[in-house]
Amino acid sequence: MIPQADPRAGYLAQRREIDAAIARVLEGGRYILGEEVAGFERAFADYIGVGHGVGVGSGTDALVLALRAIGVGPEDYVATVSHTAVASVAAIELAGARPLLIDIDPANFTLDAAELARVLASPPGRIAAVVPVHLYGQPADLDAILPLARRHGVRVIEDCAQSHGARLGAGRTGSFGDLAAFSFYPTKNLGALGDGGMAVTGDDALAERLRALREYGWRERYVSDVPGANSRLDELQAAVLRVKLGRLESCNARRAALAAAYDRGLAGLDLGLPARRAGASHVFHQYVIRAPARDALRQRLAARGIGTTIHYPVPVHLQPAYRGRLAIGPAGLGESERAAREVLSLPLYPELGDEALAAVVAALRELA
Ligand SMILES: Cc1ncc(COP(=O)(O)O)c(C=O)c1O
Repeated sequence: MIPQADPRAGYLAQRREIDAAIARVLEGGRYILGEEVAGFERAFADYIGVGHGVGVGSGTDALVLALRAIGVGPEDYVATVSHTAVASVAAIELAGARPLLIDIDPANFTLDAAELARVLASPPGRIAAVVPVHLYGQPADLDAILPLARRHGVRVIEDCAQSHGARLGAGRTGSFGDLAAFSFYPTKNLGALGDGGMAVTGDDALAERLRALREYGWRERYVSDVPGANSRLDELQAAVLRVKLGRLESCNARRAALAAAYDRGLAGLDLGLPARRAGASHVFHQYVIRAPARDALRQRLAARGIGTTIHYPVPVHLQPAYRGRLAIGPAGLGESERAAREVLSLPLYPELGDEALAAVVAALRELA
């Protein structure tokens, strides 16, 4: 069996160091907001190239708290995509604002900047922020989105849940927006052994607001200045993440090498292979192909012991919880709906062996 993702293999690759880090926390006796979280926040913010990192309970919470930090209100729209994890959109409502869904650029699966420009030129109401999602590990079109947002006075919150370490020009994703949100869900490029997330920003005042919001609105213990939440990255996860951060670059390089091997192996088949944005590095959180008869292909691969996943089978605007009630850009969401029918994520994780990849390629060459 070749799984589509294998977080356990990531643990086993650093087992001694991770076990030692966990033991250190257990014996230290401080389990919430201690030196592991502070040390990881510093290390991760430095890695991304921003001034502040605020560890929180999940990537979803990082988005919610980032939106609350900029002060979105119930009349405000926040633009994002529908072809994403439901969390990107759910966070907007959880923060008390209205999602406004924009279609994707079909080549890159990320927010279509031309459609965003049309929406900003004639908005349905005040658009407070845009949340570009660096989906599958590929940076969104920030070269177009950032100047547009600036011109219209709209904040940018990057959804970096899938793009730890991806570069765009000289900077890393997470260093371009007013704020950015990372997830450390176990299968992410940097994954914890449970839930975890971080909001990062270069803005001192926003960082202070985030720190208050993640813990009951406290600036001072037991004094709630604003209505806050309880969403803290815990010491155990931070200690594990500090260890795993040391291996992130080599893991991303291995993901890119595996992706290049898939590209070579699958060339010439009737499959759409992932594009790379010029001037950017893709960290291949997922290697996603487009396949015409996707569901049949997926079943045949499963029969041969090859695991695949669909990211994502139903766009957010067609999910039962959201259907028919979210604002949508003027061009509609046709490309998002087509992507949901065609995409297939192949096995990809740093510990995937060359032979396993060759077996996936051979199966696809026979079946596709
Ligand atoms: C694009 C995207 N945004 C947000 C999230 C939410 O992160 P979490 O699962 O840590 O809440 C995820 C991960 O599930 C994601 O893939």
